[in-house]
Amino acid sequence: MPPYAYFNKQFVPLAEAKIGVMTNFLHYGTAVFEGIRGNWNSQKKQIYLFRLREHYQRLHNGCQVLNIDLPYTIDELCQLTVELVAKCRFEEDTYVRPLAYKSSESLGVRLHDLDCDFLAFAFPWGPYLDADRARCRVSSWRFPGEVPRAKLTGLYVTNAVAKTEAVENGFDEAIMLTPDGYVAEGSGENIFLAVDGKLVTPAGYDGILLGITRDTVIKLAQDELGIETVERHVGRVELYTAEECFLTGTAAHITPVAEIDRRKIGDGEIGAVTKKLQKLYSEIIRGNNPKYLDWCTPVYKR
Ligand SMILES: Cc1ncc(COP(=O)(O)O)c(C=O)c1O
Repeated sequence: MPPYAYFNKQFVPLAEAKIGVMTNFLHYGTAVFEGIRGNWNSQKKQIYLFRLREHYQRLHNGCQVLNIDLPYTIDELCQLTVELVAKCRFEEDTYVRPLAYKSSESLGVRLHDLDCDFLAFAFPWGPYLDADRARCRVSSWRFPGEVPRAKLTGLYVTNAVAKTEAVENGFDEAIMLTPDGYVAEGSGENIFLAVDGKLVTPAGYDGILLGITRDTVIKLAQDELGIETVERHVGRVELYTAEECFLTGTAAHITPVAEIDRRKIGDGEIGAVTKKLQKLYSEIIRGNNPKYLDWCTPVYKR
């Protein structure tokens, strides 16, 4: 089965979904995207889409920022995504990329007087960070100041330069600071520290993307492990002295951080809290924990 896309209001083979070179968003970053995981459960022969509604709620919020009139309700987007993934018939971990964009083939920097459209496609995608314990570097590139907390394509240039700077210097991921010098997030993940029996993570007021995995981890830490998460400014030096550190994201799941700026975090191994959260999370996203099945949307009719 070829992968499929939903494009121009119909399902087409992914290879046939093409965009004209004058399409507005290509030039000015006037699009909003999402990243949704379909997690393969080999026993149940099922793919579960994780927290599907929440992803489309966030897409809707981003569309408000860019004045994109989405021609679909959140329910319709969820339904359409289930259909898309089911059509692809993958039997492995999958990633769905929805994109709402200024679709007019018309140049000129603006948000007004432009048509809007929505597309989505799915493809098989395994682990995002190619390391079970990431080595990170604080980026010399500051996180954009005036950040609407949304996945606007144009905002990701900073993340891209930060990521490449890290990789070209031999690291797996960049950690960006806010314009005031506080810790913000990775190029595609939120960040958590374990300090004195609590979790600490940058707060919404630091301008970070409010990750759905971040929210999941905060809930699981509280409800399953009795660990509180404090959302506050996090100083750079706190990174070096934390007992544990991990990154969270739809693509990266929960990735332990072994080292930051060539300083070992804890003993450089996966910390106890990180390990417990990873175990819980990996069962939940594959639909193996009945308590959290509400977060999992099955794709195949069985
Ligand atoms: C910059 C950035 N921060 C954080 C995240 C994590 O968000 P989520 O857990 O919703 O995937 C992502 C990925 O979507 C991201 O791109």
